[in-house]
Amino acid sequence: MSQNSISCLISEQELQQTICQYGTILTQEYQDKPLLLLGVLSGSFLFLADLCRQIKLPLEIAFIRAKSYLGTQSQGSVQIDYNLTEEQIRTHHILLVEDIVDTGLTLTKLTEKLQSQHPLSLKTITLLDKPARRTVPFQPDYHLFTIEDQFVIGYGLDYDERYRNLPYIGVLH
Ligand code: IMP
Ligand code: MG
Repeated sequence: MSQNSISCLISEQELQQTICQYGTILTQEYQDKPLLLLGVLSGSFLFLADLCRQIKLPLEIAFIRAKSYLGTQSQGSVQIDYNLTEEQIRTHHILLVEDIVDTGLTLTKLTEKLQSQHPLSLKTITLLDKPARRTVPFQPDYHLFTIEDQFVIGYGLDYDERYRNLPYIGVLH
């Protein structure tokens, strides 16, 4: 197996501190509202796990799958898969939780699909934003970190399904 070197871009401590701050913001924002956190699989699983514990409200959690990536290249099309009922969507404020916004295609497609089913409200939060790579003009409602045009791994993000378990965001060399 080849040995790649990884440099740390965002430390575990920096991630946790910022997530804690956003937890406080979201706790205020969704006070007395039925909140559904909808994690985009698989990359958001650690971010969602840490974020949900910082939102001090009786929220619900579900996942949605959007496949658009092979290796490091976007394929340009998005396949959507979830098992929420129309009733669940119509009766909740949905916060879509994503690992990274790159071309913007995934969240554009997901928000279009969900909006068509009339949630009480729909917002998006992404851990990372890579605005230099946008091909569609998508703006997340919340982004915790803006990064340069580089391929990152760790804290849920993979390179061919590896490195998701790193506790920090790194760059692979
Ligand atoms: P978009 O549709 O181009 O915005 O791509 C979003 C998806 O691409 C993310 O949910 C990630 O799964 C994947 N992705 C984009 N950039 C990176 C990266 O730097 N590292 C790992 N995955 C990435
Ligand atoms: Mg993803």
